[in-house]
Parts: sequence; structure tokens; C-alpha cells
Amino acid sequence: MSTTTMLFCAILCALLVAQASCAEEVSLPRSVKVCNRRSSDYSSCLRLAIQESWLTFVKGIPQLQLPVLDPMSMDYIESNYQAAEISGRFSLRDVKTYGLARTNFLAVRPYFSGNTMNMEIDVEVPKAFIDGNYKADGSIGLYKIGGKGYFNVSIDHISATWSLEGHVDDDRWIIDHLHIYPDVEKLKVHFTDLFNGNDELNKAALSLVNEYWQVFYKGFLPSLEKHWDQYLSDFLNRFIFSKISVSKVFP
Ligand SMILES: *[C@@H]1O[C@H](CO)[C@@H](O)[C@H](O)[C@H]1NC(C)=O
Repeated sequence: MSTTTMLFCAILCALLVAQASCAEEVSLPRSVKVCNRRSSDYSSCLRLAIQESWLTFVKGIPQLQLPVLDPMSMDYIESNYQAAEISGRFSLRDVKTYGLARTNFLAVRPYFSGNTMNMEIDVEVPKAFIDGNYKADGSIGLYKIGGKGYFNVSIDHISATWSLEGHVDDDRWIIDHLHIYPDVEKLKVHFTDLFNGNDELNKAALSLVNEYWQVFYKGFLPSLEKHWDQYLSDFLNRFIFSKISVSKVFP
């Protein structure tokens, strides 16, 4: 065989193996309880099943190649920001979110009908901490702002509904959308170098942001929500639902 042919075969094999493992059926860990749709307490059974197996998921599941969720790592997020007088672009790198292990599942509301498979899940997280590196540039009114540095956010008491919208195709649950609008009780932000090393301005901006965090948070939500929808839908499809059968896990 010529080198080219060998290379071609190697690539083809790699593609086939990747294909095979995509379509591969993986069993969930045995500790994950399965509920029956026809049972009268299906909603509460699902809630308990998710709550009881949450830590199993949070620790990561190697068979599913599911990464650890606490801390949850995101390499890169890029977005626009637009609220009142403030507009700009920002990107976040090496973002780590801590605290998801302590998620409480309050209620689960499944809506299954025909091929439609939706689910609402009410959760609360007592405390979360997010940190990473940011880069931003934009303006407040006529003033240019920008810089790059470190940031962290401490959040107390998050409550949210995860709204999963999907459909069933070939015995797989395909998540089309995942909407999350979290309510936050308290939020404190730290960042460095928003004004390219001007400490005075950075301090002023920090106290402004922390005083009016509700306003800023509302301004951020639409782009966060869009990002979560894309990122988390893809995450759930890729790591979990493409590998398990609806008929086995949601019988
Ligand atoms: C958050 O960032 C600030 C400013 O850099 C730093 O002083 C503080 O220690 C950080 N908080 C934590 C919990 O790491």
C-alpha cells in the first residue's frame, strides 16, 4: 500500500470509528433510577431520580465522556452587551463555574405527546462562584471602556426553571432548545483592569456594577440565555441523549 492509501484508510477508519461511537448505545450507571411514564407519580419519580443521580452526573461519567460539572469548564464565550447607555463586546476565557453539585431539584414537569418531548425542571442552587479571564471593549455613553483581565462573580441563591424543548427521533431525545432564566438573590462581581490598568476607574466601575447589579444582570440575560441555549442543548445532546434510548430511560 502506498503511504497515501494508508493515510486515506487511517482517516476513513477514524471516521467510521467516530461514527460508530456516536451511534453507540451506552447504559446509564445502575444507580440512576428509571421511572415509568404510566405511573401515577411520574413527575415526582423523575424529580427524585434526577436529584438522587445528580452527583453521579456532576462527578462526570467516563462511559458517556461526560465531563465533570462542578466545576464546570467553558473554554470560550463571546457576546455583545447592550443595555441603556452601555454597549460593547466581551469574551470570556477559561470560565469555571463552582457550586452546581449543590443543586436542589424542586419539581419536574414532563410534557410528552407524539414526538414532542418537553420537560420543565425547577432548580435552586444555594451558592455559585464563577471565575475566568475576560476581554471587553465598548462604551458608556460617549466614554470608551475596555480592557482585559481576571473576573469573578459570587452568587447567592439562584432559582431557575430549565425549560427543555425537544423531540424524539429514532428513539433518541433530541433537545432543540434549553431556556433558562435564573433569578438571583445576591450577586457580587470582581474584575481587574477594565480600563487597561487604570485602578481608579476600575474601582469606580466595580462599585457602579455592584451597586446596580440587577440592572446589569438584566442586560446580560438575553445574551447569556442565547449562549446557554446553544451550549447546553448541544452539551446534553452530545454527552447524554445521543447515547441513550428514550424507550429505556423514559419508558
Ligand atoms: C475575586 O477576585 C478578587 C479580585 O481579583 C479577589 O481579591 C478575590 O480573592 C477573588 N475571590 C475569590 C473567592 O477567589
